[in-house]
Amino acid sequence: MKIKSANFVMSNSNVTKAPKDRIPEYAFIGRSNVGKSSLINMLMERKDLAKTSGKPGKTQLINHFVINESWFLVDLPGYGYAKISKKKRTIFQHFIENYFKEREQLVCTFVLIDSRHDPQKIDIEFMQFLGETQIPFCIVFTKADKLGSSKINNQIASYKKKLLNYWETLPQSFLTSSSTGLGRKEFLDFIDKINEDVAGDFK
Ligand code: GTP
Ligand code: MG
Repeated sequence: MKIKSANFVMSNSNVTKAPKDRIPEYAFIGRSNVGKSSLINMLMERKDLAKTSGKPGKTQLINHFVINESWFLVDLPGYGYAKISKKKRTIFQHFIENYFKEREQLVCTFVLIDSRHDPQKIDIEFMQFLGETQIPFCIVFTKADKLGSSKINNQIASYKKKLLNYWETLPQSFLTSSSTGLGRKEFLDFIDKINEDVAGDFK
């Protein structure tokens, strides 16, 4: 897929105020600092479309971007950021949860996982929540450049094997690096294919 345009639409903390256009939507979620906003910029080949930071907790709202005037990409706040107050954290979780439960246009969610990490409780629980809410999702391993090429394959294989302790089948996964552009074509081709598959539902 060629990216002809990528534009910021709006930010908000209430899913009912999100754009009403009936076009397919893809959401990016995962722990704070895992690289959600960076991945969006890498995919769109734009430096500052989504705001990134070395410090966790940068993205705090539901951010809609419209791509090629035909689909939405959504940058969400990270979960599991220990430094925000408990009260604020509860509110975060509540509006993220509402987003997933109520956003009808959402066709696929990308759960980002740092390639260097073993499965963590919070990610497993989040994927379980998506499963229960019947939201299709893929796993996106990020920051592949931070591990050597031989290590990375072992690490991903081991991560997937551990996931099989929770589920019988594994979701589709992608290996990416926002620094090198690894995984970009495969990722965009995947979205293109879904856009074609769901076109009939969005007429
Ligand atoms: P929140 O908005 O806080 O939830 O974080 P986020 O998941 O959007 O992460 P963000 O894209 O802001 O990136 C966090 C940090 O990781 C930044 O310092 C990025 O430069 C760095 N980073 C993200 N992706 C990669 C990558 O593929 N490789 C490397 N080396 N660094 C990355
Ligand atoms: Mg972010």
